[in-house]
Amino acid sequence: AGNRTFTMIKPDAVEAGNTGAILDQITASGFRIVAMKMTQMTKADAENFYAIHKERPFFGELVEFMTRGPIVAAILEKDNAVEDFRTLIGATNPEDAAEGTIRKKYATSVGENAVHGSDSDENAEIEGAFHFAGREMF
Ligand code: CMP
Repeated sequence: AGNRTFTMIKPDAVEAGNTGAILDQITASGFRIVAMKMTQMTKADAENFYAIHKERPFFGELVEFMTRGPIVAAILEKDNAVEDFRTLIGATNPEDAAEGTIRKKYATSVGENAVHGSDSDENAEIEGAFHFAGREMF
């Protein structure tokens, strides 16, 4: 048991062949995968998923990036999942990310930053439900 967070391995990291290494680091850090799939977001999906950012100057770039290729979406379970996963991935901008974090190792810029992690328990629930049906969550 424990609580849950939602993640996406973003198109840059999937394209670069880093999916396996990232999943390995996630599970080695104590997270259990309770839902997972490879999928590609449509423009409408990305606009809805990132609706909170729609007034930001980078919104168009973000939607373009997140739809350009497949992602790997997953729901992860661990005690203190949201906070611990954000520590594991590191700062949004890889230049600010701590040594050893997933973004430090695999992200190339603030936009193409390899992975997503939910920022609250409430958003983890919303984001997980956006990508997975009940029968796909274990
Ligand atoms: P994430 O925190 O997963 O979700 C919002 C995303 O917006 C963020 O990752 C970045 O990929 C992207 N983002 C944030 N700031 C910028 C920026 N200044 N320029 C481009 N993309 C950004």
